[in-house]
Amino acid sequence: MKTFNKKYGSWALVTGASSGIGKEYATHIASQGLNIVLVARNEKKLRSIEKELISIYQVNVEVIVADLTIEADIETLFKKTNDLEIGLLVNNAGREDSNHFIKIPVKQHLGTIDLNIKTPLVLTHHFGVKMIERKKGGIINMSSIVAFQGVPYIANYAGTKAFNLIFSEGIASEFKKYNIDVLAVTPGFTKTNLAKVYDFTGTPFKPLEPGFVAKKALKYLGRKRLCIPGFINAFLYWSGKFLFTRHMNTTSFGMVFKKVLKNTL
Ligand SMILES: NC(=O)c1ccc[n+]([C@@H]2O[C@H](COP(=O)([O-])OP(=O)(O)OC[C@H]3O[C@@H](n4cnc5c(N)ncnc54)[C@H](OP(=O)(O)O)[C@@H]3O)[C@@H](O)[C@H]2O)c1
Repeated sequence: MKTFNKKYGSWALVTGASSGIGKEYATHIASQGLNIVLVARNEKKLRSIEKELISIYQVNVEVIVADLTIEADIETLFKKTNDLEIGLLVNNAGREDSNHFIKIPVKQHLGTIDLNIKTPLVLTHHFGVKMIERKKGGIINMSSIVAFQGVPYIANYAGTKAFNLIFSEGIASEFKKYNIDVLAVTPGFTKTNLAKVYDFTGTPFKPLEPGFVAKKALKYLGRKRLCIPGFINAFLYWSGKFLFTRHMNTTSFGMVFKKVLKNTL
């Protein structure tokens, strides 16, 4: 990781940096001496992380308060980063709507598609062009273990995470010749705000620590194209691929989500 600066350039941009896995990405990247652009909606949280990163790691930090489902905010983000050499892009911001598909308003579903699909695509295109010109860069796309099959009660979310994975795999091959590393990350349950809706009592699930996920992903960047943090998640991936049918995987994931969403459904 010490070679990040040399390999990718001096600035990284992390979306969804105000909490959870994104905050951990920002911290671990800053600990390697890279300057960071922190992006999210909650300015108070971003300012406190900015303060922390500057005082501990003596890096430069830019805070950009943006709702990434709003086109004008993305345009502002592009303007504010115009003079920065963003060499490492972490497409981390994401949201999940958990319930029966039909009970979630369609507008909410579309907002999730905007944040989870449209935003990483638009950011990858914008910063990808500049990385290609410089012939170096790194891009991390946050997917999920739910990306490998359809999942009841989070059907739209799982679909967006499948996009993140497939999109990431495609551009990883396209961008290789430009010396740009692309990685998809597929964690399972992780202790963040996003997973607060889940009730794990009476289940064997032990959510991952967000710091573990971010650290593992950064270790994989440039070495692999897919990172599956956590032994259980790796087991689910391999067994789902070679032992069970897709229909069986969807059924078993559905049973798990029905259980952990017992307070919501
Ligand atoms: N936690 C899990 O179990 C899990 C498992 C697999 C994959 N993931 C993926 O990991 C990524 C990070 O999620 P997390 O678990 O760390 O959840 P989290 O703690 O809720 O973090 C989500 C981040 O996205 C930001 N965000 C949400 N809506 C936004 C918007 N409209 N515009 C800009 N920023 C926005 C939030 O900041 P503001 O509220 O300040 O905007 C926050 O910083 C997501 O892509 C998620 O799909 C999570």
